Amino acid sequence: MSSDETNAGVDRMAGAEPVPGSAKSDPILVADGVRRSFGGLRAVDVEHLEVQRGTITALIGPNGAGKSTLFNLLTGFDRVDGGRWTFEGRAVNGRRGHQVARAGMVRTFQLTKALTRMTVLDNMLLGAPGQFGERMAGAFLRPVWQGQERLNTERALDLLERFKLVDKRHELAGALSGGQRKLLEMARSLMTDPTMIMLDEPMAGVNPALVQSLLGHITSLRDDGKTVLFVEHDMDVIMGISDWIVVLAQGQVIAEGRPSDIRSNRQVIDAYLGAQEESSEAAGSGDDGQR
Ligand SMILES: Nc1ncnc2c1ncn2[C@@H]1O[C@H](COP(=O)(O)OP(=O)(O)O)[C@@H](O)[C@H]1O
Ligand SMILES: [Mg+2]
Repeated sequence: MSSDETNAGVDRMAGAEPVPGSAKSDPILVADGVRRSFGGLRAVDVEHLEVQRGTITALIGPNGAGKSTLFNLLTGFDRVDGGRWTFEGRAVNGRRGHQVARAGMVRTFQLTKALTRMTVLDNMLLGAPGQFGERMAGAFLRPVWQGQERLNTERALDLLERFKLVDKRHELAGALSGGQRKLLEMARSLMTDPTMIMLDEPMAGVNPALVQSLLGHITSLRDDGKTVLFVEHDMDVIMGISDWIVVLAQGQVIAEGRPSDIRSNRQVIDAYLGAQEESSEAAGSGDDGQR
C-alpha cells in the first residue's frame, strides 16, 4: 500500500509547505510555544504546530521524543510550563481532560486504559458524555437519567458493532486480546462524537489481522470528516495512510511534510527514524505513555 494509492489524487494539505511549523489552510488545532520540562529535561518544546482539519496526520519520532507528553498536554492530561493552543478557534489550554473532550478533542493512551473488571459495554458507557475518567467513581453513584442512558447504550452498541466487538459486550474487558482492547479504546473515545481524535500508538502490540482493521477504522474516521493525529513507529503504516507527517525529536518539531517529503528527507530518516523498526516493539511494552 503506498500513499499514492491510498490518497489517489487527493491533496488534503492544500499548498502547505513542508517545513517545521508550517501554516495550514484550514487548521483545526493551532499550538504555540508549548513547553514541558521534567527536572532538567525539556520533554516538549513546540514552537508552532498546526494540524489540518479532516486529515490523518502522523506524529513520529524516536522513543522519548515527547510524543506522548505532547498528547497529554494538548488534551489536558498534564500541565504545561508554557504555551497556548486553540481547537476549532477556541483556546483550550488550561482545560482539563473532560473539558477538552467536550470541546471535541479526544485521545487514546499508549497503554490501554480499558477497565479489565468491567464489561465491554460498561467500558463504553464510561466514555459517554459527562462520565470521563477522573469522575468515574461519581458515575457509579450518580442516579442515572434513563433517557440519556438509553441513548448512550444505543450509541455504544452501534460503535461496538462497527468495531466488531458487539458479541463481546457482556464479557469482561480483561478477557479481550490486546488488539481488541485497542479497538475498544478507540470505540470508547468515539462515544462523545469528537471532531478530532488523537491515537497514541494504536497499532502497538496488535496482531497483523487487527492492524488492517485498525487502519480501516482510522481512514474511515477521516472519511467521516474527522481529524486524526496518531503516533506510530511502523514506516509502512505511516507512509500508507498519512496525509501529513510531523517529526518530533527532543521535544521539537524538526520536520513536517507529506509522506513523499519525509521519505526523501534522508537526514530525518538517518538521524531519527533509522532505528525505529527495531525499537518499536520495546516502545509498545516498556514505555509508559500513560503518565
Ligand atoms: N512524568 C514524567 N516524569 C519524568 N519524566 C517524564 C515524564 N513523562 C515523560 N518523561 C520523559 O519525557 C521524555 C518524553 O517522553 P514521552 O513523551 O513519553 O516520549 P515518547 O512518547 O515520544 O516516547 C522522556 O525522556 C521521558 O522519560
Ligand atoms: Mg509515547
